[in-house]
Amino acid sequence: MGRLVHLDPDQQRVGLVHAATNVVAVSCYAGALAQRAKGRSGRLLSLAGLAISSVGATLGGHLAYHQALGANHADRVGDLGPADWRPLGRVADLPDGTPVRRDAGEMSVFVLRRGTHVTVLADRCPHLSAPLSDGQVVGTDGDACVVCPWHGSEFRLDDGAVVHGPATAALPRFEVRVRDGQVQARLGSPD
Ligand code: FES
Repeated sequence: MGRLVHLDPDQQRVGLVHAATNVVAVSCYAGALAQRAKGRSGRLLSLAGLAISSVGATLGGHLAYHQALGANHADRVGDLGPADWRPLGRVADLPDGTPVRRDAGEMSVFVLRRGTHVTVLADRCPHLSAPLSDGQVVGTDGDACVVCPWHGSEFRLDDGAVVHGPATAALPRFEVRVRDGQVQARLGSPD
């Protein structure tokens, strides 16, 4: 229920009806089972359970495929991100501790310099595609995270892992190197 507050009102409405239909369908099947235990057929309750669970399944499909609930909006980064090294500008031009957006080929990336260390992640929140370079950096060292500016998901800078939702998928990260003062990045191989 805690995650429900992060949904759009439309998604909340459909989600509640979806949950209710599943509860009613399970109750119908439980009633049919009880009737069979008493030697009756329980067919009517079984058919009602089937009809109601079909409605629930249709609503679940609507939530997933039409309203994109739970979809990973950064999933295509692995297909579209650059496999070869792409220049992201001079390391000296990156502000210390403040994320910026850069283009790595066709893709926007989140770039953060902390001292001499540069982190590059996808700039698209897996939840609903917010630009994470507009987000805030919190924490320090291995616990440092970027907080999504739209709904507050937190992703660990070191590996892109989700620390707090509503996002459920990790943020793709990039390999980084510095050559002649220039930052370069390419898509890291999947762990
Ligand atoms: S877009 Fe919703 S948490 Fe990032």
